[in-house]
Amino acid sequence: MMSAEQQAVVLEARALSKTYALVGAAVEVLQGVTLSVRAGETLAVMGASGSGKSTLLHCLGGLDRPTSGQVFFNGGDLFALSASARTEVRATKLGFVFQAYHLLPELDLRENVMLPALARRGALARRAQLEERADSLLASVGLAARAAHRPAELSGGEQQRAALARALMNEPELVLADEPTGNLDSATGEQVLEYLFRLTRDRGHTLVMVTHNADIAARCNRTLILRDGKLS
Ligand SMILES: Nc1ncnc2c1ncn2[C@@H]1O[C@H](COP(=O)(O)OP(=O)(O)OP(=O)(O)O)[C@@H](O)[C@H]1O
Ligand SMILES: [Mg+2]
Repeated sequence: MMSAEQQAVVLEARALSKTYALVGAAVEVLQGVTLSVRAGETLAVMGASGSGKSTLLHCLGGLDRPTSGQVFFNGGDLFALSASARTEVRATKLGFVFQAYHLLPELDLRENVMLPALARRGALARRAQLEERADSLLASVGLAARAAHRPAELSGGEQQRAALARALMNEPELVLADEPTGNLDSATGEQVLEYLFRLTRDRGHTLVMVTHNADIAARCNRTLILRDGKLS
């Protein structure tokens, strides 16, 4: 097995800044964030509320454009791409897990999990295969029996496990998770984390996770703290 130093850099941020221009004031959230994450690594990002963790994660995932600086994914400058090419990278290489699960209420769990794959070319012809994969992912998060249920019929922890299955549907190289247990009680959160860590480890995904919880951070390979707009 290769040591962490030998693995390729999957994600890199260089001098990332993000300023929100508000009426009468500018909020400088990120002020020169530099970061490098290697394949298979699990990284925790901590920091006070309002320190810019979600902003950083959105910039790293191409959801939000930084004011200056660059994000490299597999060596390519994410924001030098056209919007549609960036969307393609997001859809095929990245998996997002949010604090509020963002499942679509009118779809059942199987359909929610399949969604990232349905957007891809040729998906309809492969529908049966994708359904099988969605079901197998639901089984891997303990929801085999709930594939035909809608999100409203599930508990918060179950919804977050389904959101986790959805994030892994396209076998993303990089999983970005923003306080994935923030809305859950500690026992339920623990169960979601077990799945998150087990699946990312078993499948070799790289993970960047925002958390408020030092015990959770300690289970990652590395922890960085966002403070005064910088990571250290
Ligand atoms: N769209 C926006 N417009 C203006 N200011 C914003 C916007 N989004 C975030 N901010 C501000 O940027 C700062 C960082 O917000 P962010 O959501 O990244 O913090 P956070 O570290 O994720 O906080 P929390 O732990 O509470 O989730 C906050 O002061 C917030 O008010
Ligand atoms: Mg946040």
